[in-house]
Amino acid sequence: MELLKDKKIIDRLKSANRMTVLTGAGISAESGIPTFRGDDGIWKKLNPEELASFEAFYSNTALVSEWYKHRRQIIEKVQPNSAHVALVELGNVVENFNLITQNVDGLHQRAGSPDVIELHGNITENFCTRCGRTFTPAEFDEILSTSFDHIPKCDCGGLIRPNVVWFGEQLPQESYEKAYTAAVNSDVFLAIGTSAYVRPASDLPRYAKYNGALIIEVNLKDTALTNQVDLVLRGPAGDVLPKFVDEYKFALSQV
Ligand code: OAD
Repeated sequence: MELLKDKKIIDRLKSANRMTVLTGAGISAESGIPTFRGDDGIWKKLNPEELASFEAFYSNTALVSEWYKHRRQIIEKVQPNSAHVALVELGNVVENFNLITQNVDGLHQRAGSPDVIELHGNITENFCTRCGRTFTPAEFDEILSTSFDHIPKCDCGGLIRPNVVWFGEQLPQESYEKAYTAAVNSDVFLAIGTSAYVRPASDLPRYAKYNGALIIEVNLKDTALTNQVDLVLRGPAGDVLPKFVDEYKFALSQV
C-alpha cells in the first residue's frame, strides 16, 4: 500500500529542510522490549510509583535496582529493528535531522544514529547519588551481586542509581533544550510509537505544529496526538518506516 498519496503532503515533505523525529517505546516493541501503555504494557501490570520514582528507589532500593537490572539485561539481548535502521537512513537523506527519543534502551545508537537526544536518560548508565561517579553495567552488576543486602553502594557510601528520569524528576536540561529547539524549528515532525501521554516530551509535536510543521504519526493505534496530526500512518513501525523512507526518497528524486 502506498503511504504518500496526498500531493500537498508530498510537496511539503519535498520542500522540508528540517525534520525532527520523536520516538517512544513502540519503536522498540518489535525488538522485543515491552511498551509502557500498550496492550501488554509494563504499567498495565506494575505500579510506576512503586518502581519509577526516587521515593520508591529510596524506600525499596534492592527491588528497584534489581528491576532496572532486569530491564537492562532484556535490552542487552535484543537488536535494533528495521524501524531504527530506517531512521538512520532518513537521517542520512535529510539535511537538518534531529532524533529525539523517550526510550532509555540505546537502540537508536546501536542501529547507527548519531547525536540522539535522550530525554529520559539511558538505562545502561548508573551513577552515585552522592559523588556522581559513573559505573559501567559490569561494575554495577558486580557491586549489586556482592552486596549482602542487594543495595548498590559507591565507595563513598552513596546509593548508586540508574541514569533514567523518574516520575516527578526534571528532564536533563541540555537534552530538553536541544529537543525544544529542534521541534520549534522543524518543517516536518514525526511522532513514532509514542502514546503522547507523558509531558513534557508529548508537548514537542504540539510546539512543532504551532510553529507550522507538518506532523506525521506512526503508530498501531490512535493516541493523544492523533487528532492534531496531518498524516496518520497506521501499522507496526518496523513495516511502516522503511516504506515511508523509500517513498520519501522516491518523491525527492522526482522533479
Ligand atoms: P507508551 O507505552 O506510553 O506508548 C507506546 C505506544 O507505541 C502506544 O501508542 C502503542 O500503540 C505504540 N506501539 C506499540 N507497538 C508499536 C509498533 N510496533 N509500532 C508502532 N507503534 C507501536 O510509551 P511512550 O509513549 O514511549 O517514561 O511512554 C512515554 C514514557 O512513559 C516513557 O518514556 C516512560 C513511561 O513512563 C519514563 O521512563 C520517564
